[in-house]
Amino acid sequence: ELFDPSRFSPEAEAARSPHAYKPFGTGERACIGRQFALHEATMLLALLAHRYRLVDDCDYQLRIKETLTLKPEGFTLTLAARTPADRAAVRAALAVLPGSDSGTVDDTATDDGLPTRVLQGTGLLLLHGSNYGTCREFAERLADEATGLGFTADVAPLDAYAGALPADRPVVIVAASYNGRPTDDAAAFVEWLNTARDGAATGVPFAVLGVGDRNWAATYQHIPTLIDDRLDALGAHRLLPRAEADASGDLSGTVKEFTAALRTQLLTHYGDPESVGASAPASEDTGYSVTEVTGGPLDALAARHGLVPMTVTEAHDLTAEGWPRPKRFLRIALPDGVGYRTADHLAVLPANAPAAVERAAHVLGADLDTVLALHSGRRASRDTLPVDR
Ligand SMILES: Cc1cc2nc3c(=O)[nH]c(=O)nc-3n(C[C@H](O)[C@H](O)[C@H](O)COP(=O)(O)O)c2cc1C
Repeated sequence: ELFDPSRFSPEAEAARSPHAYKPFGTGERACIGRQFALHEATMLLALLAHRYRLVDDCDYQLRIKETLTLKPEGFTLTLAARTPADRAAVRAALAVLPGSDSGTVDDTATDDGLPTRVLQGTGLLLLHGSNYGTCREFAERLADEATGLGFTADVAPLDAYAGALPADRPVVIVAASYNGRPTDDAAAFVEWLNTARDGAATGVPFAVLGVGDRNWAATYQHIPTLIDDRLDALGAHRLLPRAEADASGDLSGTVKEFTAALRTQLLTHYGDPESVGASAPASEDTGYSVTEVTGGPLDALAARHGLVPMTVTEAHDLTAEGWPRPKRFLRIALPDGVGYRTADHLAVLPANAPAAVERAAHVLGADLDTVLALHSGRRASRDTLPVDR
């Protein structure tokens, strides 16, 4: 009953079984809204902390109220809007924290004695296990990097290689887990790994970048770990240790470290000795380019994720008028050639609030009828701006 946040310190969490605390249920009954709930809570806290100071002006003593969830009973806070002086104080405090230089990669060529490009015609295969696109995007980014080093890079889903991996070029795998299971594009590959005979991956040079979320403590990094272990057991040759990128931790920091380590390994094993000391291949486009595009604003996004627009044929409230948490009934026409099975996902791409869009357009001096696309140069970071859509 004691309110003790230190029970959730990383050390305390590491010291107990991941099965000791299951706030979102588990197994078949695990909550599919978990990631959304965590994002929503994080955003709300960030918004409040950004705009207000929270003041406990009645010296509150904790009394727990337990209904569906635990709540502090009768707890109120006064909000005081942050002033520019408050913000300056916070910025000053943050500036002295380690790693606060926002971690831009210095990817200018370093004089590390390594070749700066690979032998012409060297292939690289990037495979992803991805449901929502994070791992696919990382794989594509790594392909961009590799192309810059002179590789002929191919990107494909893991399932395209269920049954056999090529041994004539390095294979880099970027994979996620969902409740400990493989993504839809990696199920056959994982099945093959689990049943393959000894030696089935002999000599395949590989590296695994695992993407996961520590909130799924009991099955954190389950699939990338399995892939890494099984490839090793089947005789493949590990180029570098598996990386664990944590969506609730320093995801992009881990990805950057992995990218740098991979670059070193690839140049060490596949580099063109004649390129040692040469300047790195010139990258012409180092920033973002903006072009005007035609077609609907969602076309590029739809193409990227294989989305099919659908028509809502019926929509009405299921809850009584005025009910504070309305539930809606939607009937949707399936387009030709599209099937539906129970538990398939439906993506809703909501429009931004028109007032917010108008304000942004006004501030940027943009005409609202113009459709723009951002393209990132090979070496520009894709972390912050939405590109190619
Ligand atoms: C429903 C759900 C279940 C998840 N289960 C796990 C898990 O068991 N282990 C893990 O490490 N991460 C888990 N995650 C986190 C995802 O692996 C992580 O968000 C990853 O970035 C998704 O990659 P993708 O966008 O390429 O599909 C889960 C996420 C969701 C939404």
